[in-house]
Amino acid sequence: MSSILIQNIRWLVGTHPLSIKRLKGSDISHLPICENAFLLLDNHRIIRFGAMSEIDKPLRADSVIDASERAVLPAFCDSHTHLVFAASREEEFEMRLKGVSYGDIAAKGGGILNSARRLTAMSETKLFDLSLPRLMEAQALGTGAIEIKSGYGLTVESELKMLKVIRRLKEAMPSMTIKTTFLGAHAIPIAFQANRHVYIQLILEKMIPIIAAEQLADYIDVFCEKMAFSAAETDKILDAGAKYGLKAKIHTNQFTSIGGIETAIKHKALSVDHLEVLTDDEILLLKNNDIIATLLPTAPFFLNDIHTPPARKLIEAGATIALATDFNPGTSPSVSMPFVVSLACIRLRMTPAESLNAATLNGAAALELSDDYGSIAVGKKGAVILTKPIPSIAYLPYAFGTNWIEQIIN
Ligand code: NIG
Ligand code: FE
Repeated sequence: MSSILIQNIRWLVGTHPLSIKRLKGSDISHLPICENAFLLLDNHRIIRFGAMSEIDKPLRADSVIDASERAVLPAFCDSHTHLVFAASREEEFEMRLKGVSYGDIAAKGGGILNSARRLTAMSETKLFDLSLPRLMEAQALGTGAIEIKSGYGLTVESELKMLKVIRRLKEAMPSMTIKTTFLGAHAIPIAFQANRHVYIQLILEKMIPIIAAEQLADYIDVFCEKMAFSAAETDKILDAGAKYGLKAKIHTNQFTSIGGIETAIKHKALSVDHLEVLTDDEILLLKNNDIIATLLPTAPFFLNDIHTPPARKLIEAGATIALATDFNPGTSPSVSMPFVVSLACIRLRMTPAESLNAATLNGAAALELSDDYGSIAVGKKGAVILTKPIPSIAYLPYAFGTNWIEQIIN
């Protein structure tokens, strides 16, 4: 139980009022900053902040940090990852460099099915041992709260193994808040490709009831895509999840638009993720239904896909945008939120203020964690990033690939 005073902060970033839980439409362009500020943390909570000039009598704390020429920002909230996996897939990366497409690799039993084979062959302990350092890397890169999905199991036993690994990660690292998503509907396993409805029955009748009974997941996800699950199948799976209290966060519109957005709306999904291919009508639907549009700019970047999520159109239409890494071995082998924030500016034409808001407060909203994370407000968790000396806030996304983090406080 210790208190920390950070003083002489050149820019204390993201001082949104506590009442603001998410930033819709053009509200995302406003990133409030308190200049020449202090921040007082006690027992891992923010208990006071303001301008240095407001300090009337000396503040006492167990440790004092000087943040001259530095910024302090809320920790990132990475609301979409597949952090638990058995092995990297650089051999597929090399195949793609030679011109084989992601879809072709998947159709030949590579991709998600490749990861599923390797995960099934691995013990729970080994999987945990491989995953913990990735979580530590996420934390070192400024992430304070993270979502982790299953979906590389694709059998009852292996999906449970993944979810148990996530539970062990939570126990091993209490300084990171983890939300868990069940993604049994990530791909149709080869054994079920001739009778896919049998695999879907397995999800509905075996996986979901066990996972709910053992409280192994907060959310349910489906990869709604031509190469994976149809909108009608997605509907069925989300229905079954809802019966067990699992809210939806779905993968949709990554390569094709096949009705995932309408299905997500029907199920009052918390977020729809990817959205590289999005029609104007779908943009309107998102805005009118207040679903969070989670954009994952590193995935089309890594796949060298010309389609990128239409962030500007979404913002102009009044939709709510979050940014996340999609960390996974196939389409986004990086857990770096600073890189995501840079790429959102470079490729999605978001401003530094917009992308920082989308990676913090709106990411927190996409995990229903806005009461604790995403902004600098009294009562929230004291999960913050202290930067190295920097010339401006815009420098953060500008200096892509540079490690501008000096210290992480959780
Ligand atoms: O979000 N698109 C579906 N799932 C992951 C990729 C999974 C993989 O290739 O292993 C994604 O991009
Ligand atoms: Fe994903």
